[in-house]
Amino acid sequence: MSIDGYLDCAAPRRLELSNDADFDRVDAVRASCDAIFVGAATVRNDNPRLLVRSESRRDERTDRGLAPSPTKVTVTERVELDPGANFFTAGDAEKLVYCASSRFAHARLRLGKVATVVDGGQPVEMRRVSEDLGARGVYRLMVEGGGKVHTQFLTHNLVDELQLVVAPLFVGDSRAPRFVTDGRFPWNPGRRATLAEVRQIGDVVLLRYALSPRFETD
Ligand SMILES: NC(=O)c1ccc[n+]([C@@H]2O[C@H](COP(=O)([O-])OP(=O)(O)OC[C@H]3O[C@@H](n4cnc5c(N)ncnc54)[C@H](OP(=O)(O)O)[C@@H]3O)[C@@H](O)[C@H]2O)c1
Repeated sequence: MSIDGYLDCAAPRRLELSNDADFDRVDAVRASCDAIFVGAATVRNDNPRLLVRSESRRDERTDRGLAPSPTKVTVTERVELDPGANFFTAGDAEKLVYCASSRFAHARLRLGKVATVVDGGQPVEMRRVSEDLGARGVYRLMVEGGGKVHTQFLTHNLVDELQLVVAPLFVGDSRAPRFVTDGRFPWNPGRRATLAEVRQIGDVVLLRYALSPRFETD
């Protein structure tokens, strides 16, 4: 995020916040996970591929009998997702779309050929999504945004570790998406989170917070 807590600018063009060294670190984290989760707005706005970029990391995964890149997961209510988006077309990883029950039939019609569409309930709750992912063999999930998705995982106390990278710039536009939206967070003035690590990576800083007993120090 920016110094002032934004994930992006308000303009349609994506704002790059990290530097190359941090993108590479993120690639290593991706490679260590079973699945990567992003909200539907991130799929629409950023059109991310969500693949492991490094060939050696992809090879290491295949040597371990895994797909080269983790499973991709998204969530939607409106189902306004393009089946031609990179989320669906880039790489051979499994793709999962959790959608609200009321839109499940529509979602299957629209996306059933490019992803496994899962009825996520009404409303879709991240605890239920997490449990369903666990039943599908996803034990380590990386949630890559955006803010609405971060907020739900955090407020429902589902997060083991928060990795927050602060880029040395301001966005200064409240129309831009923030790291989180409003909510009741388990870490607050009465219960401070545990700061586990601070790491400078070139001109950005990585803050790692241990948010559950399942936090692992690498
Ligand atoms: N800096 C970074 O590292 C980073 C990372 C990721 C994203 N971003 C930025 O974040 C912005 C998007 O963030 P955002 O907060 O606007 O959106 P978001 O969290 O990416 O996605 C929100 C959307 O996900 C769906 N959704 C979320 N929770 C749901 C639920 N419980 N049930 C059903 N659907 C649910 C809805 O999709 P529908 O509207 O389809 O119903 C909702 O509009 C983008 O600009 C992107 O560039 C930045």
